[in-house]
Amino acid sequence: MHKDRKLLIAGNWKMNKTVAEGLDLVQGLRRELAGVKEVDIVVCPPYTALSEVSKIIMDSNLRLGAQNMSEQAPGAYTGEIAAAMLKEFSVRYVILGHSERRQFQKESSELIAKKALAAHAASLKPIVCIGETLEEREKGVTEQILEQQLRGSLAGLSKEQMAETVVAYEPVWAIGTGKTATTQQAQDAHAFIRKVLVSLFDDAVAKRVRIQYGGSVKPANARELMSQPDVDGALVGGASLEVRSFTDIIKNSI
Ligand code: PGA
Repeated sequence: MHKDRKLLIAGNWKMNKTVAEGLDLVQGLRRELAGVKEVDIVVCPPYTALSEVSKIIMDSNLRLGAQNMSEQAPGAYTGEIAAAMLKEFSVRYVILGHSERRQFQKESSELIAKKALAAHAASLKPIVCIGETLEEREKGVTEQILEQQLRGSLAGLSKEQMAETVVAYEPVWAIGTGKTATTQQAQDAHAFIRKVLVSLFDDAVAKRVRIQYGGSVKPANARELMSQPDVDGALVGGASLEVRSFTDIIKNSI
């Protein structure tokens, strides 16, 4: 058992996998990961595969997550998906404010906070993503950026809601680049994030929040990253698209 917090390892499939491909992947994961109890395992397929994936993982130790949702209740919002619609497929988690959405869809921390509140109102657990760019790290403003993003994206959450929220630290320069933060860089950022959570909420809440690391997590670096005292899991992109690599990340983390 890892620290006081159970590890949470989530696969973010991003805009990948048809329904048939997704089913293949999840059938393999279900088989390979049966019996793993030490880690909470989540798969986050695209919206189009949620329904079918949800049927396959029912009665398994895999849980379902979505990659985004609207901050609005159902209504006239063309192209959007409401929390209530995710609930229909037994979705438990929702990734919010991924850096790709902050970059390409121009999502602000303010919007992400609204989404986090809407997720909680529907009893979905948000995975709120934050992280600095390479330019920000080189300028030495990483901590300021993380604090700003935390303050903005978690605004309005109660202590109870925060305790049920996951934070994913994903340095933008490490996403899909093959460059992983060193274990020390990851631990330092996670410890800083926990310190900010103490000041925004309180010590007890900060101790409960799981902080995932994301950015080029692979079977080869998972064990060392997950062994850090403030690293409570991983948000995995590329390596979550194959049964072997995602399974090995989880098995190497136990
Ligand atoms: P990566 O992506 O594992 O492919 O670097 C991580 C993420 O963006 O969640």
